[in-house]
Parts: sequence; structure tokens; C-alpha cells
Amino acid sequence: MSAAKQQVRFTVNGREVEVSAYPMARLLDVLRNELALTGTKEGCGEGECGSCSVLMNGELVNSCLVPVLQADGADVRTVEGLASAALHPVQKAFLECGGAQCGICTPGMIVATVNLLKKHPQPTMEEIREGLNGNLCRCTGYTRIFEAVKSAAESMTHEELKVLTGEEAARR
Ligand code: FES
Ligand code: FES
Repeated sequence: MSAAKQQVRFTVNGREVEVSAYPMARLLDVLRNELALTGTKEGCGEGECGSCSVLMNGELVNSCLVPVLQADGADVRTVEGLASAALHPVQKAFLECGGAQCGICTPGMIVATVNLLKKHPQPTMEEIREGLNGNLCRCTGYTRIFEAVKSAAESMTHEELKVLTGEEAARR
């Protein structure tokens, strides 16, 4: 990379961070290699699979396609931001419904599910399919993933839904 490294500041899971990085470095790599947030996975590296999904300013993005400079000043949330002492209800539902096998797609699926439930707290099957259509899974055949999303939606409390918006995460 020809451009010099720059200081980039943003918030990850409610914590302010500053990294020295090449402007075009991928947010995915900065999260994993500089900030040790290895929950975000790399599948295709080309914006096709959704394994690297994170929320940036409340929008679902593929972090393999985001130059870190674009994250300057942003609010970024990764799968690590969901669990506190216990698993987040979405994580628990994936575990209980068998929505994960090899696990590569799982963090991205969970972040995409969070994004979906933020918009549709009680999603229809069509909304689930649409909400997860950017996330590919080679193992499960999707049925158990969709069941996990339904189960999470049914079990979540109002307070837990607020965590999805980031309102509560910053205070934890
Ligand atoms: Fe980013 Fe596949 S690794 S979309
Ligand atoms: Fe293996 Fe989804 S569990 S790709």
C-alpha cells in the first residue's frame, strides 16, 4: 500500500479506540488483527458471504469491503458486543436450535439477525429470509437458522431488544 498510515478513531462496542492503519486497510483486518476482535470472520473476502458482517452506524455492512478510513468517527458493533456475562438471546437461540455447525457464518448470521430484529421484532418468514439474504451458510441448509431467529424473537424482552439498538451497550 502506498499511502502512509493514519490515525483512525472510532467506537467499537461502546469503547473508543484509535489505531494506526493504512487508509485502505479493511475494517475486517483492523478488527481482527489490531483490536483482537476475532469473532468477525472472513469467508469470501469479496462481499458475497456476510461472514464479516458488523453494524456500522446502525447499518449492516460487510467489513471486508469497508476501508478503515470510512469507519473514522463511526459507531461499530461486532458480535463481541452482544454478550455480557451471559450469552445474548440471539446467540442462545442459535445454540439451542442447532443454527451453527462449522461456525464460520455464525457471527455474521447473528449480527444480521440482530439487525433484522431491530427492524422487525416479530419477523415473518419472508422478513427473515430477506434479512439474512446477504449471509451464506454451507452447512445448515438454513432451516435451523431460521428457527433460531424465530425462537430469539419470541424469547426476547423489551430490555434485550433495546440492547440491539446500542442504547444499553454503551452503559454496560
Ligand atoms: Fe466479507 Fe464474505 S468475508 S462478505
Ligand atoms: Fe458452516 Fe454456516 S455453519 S457455513
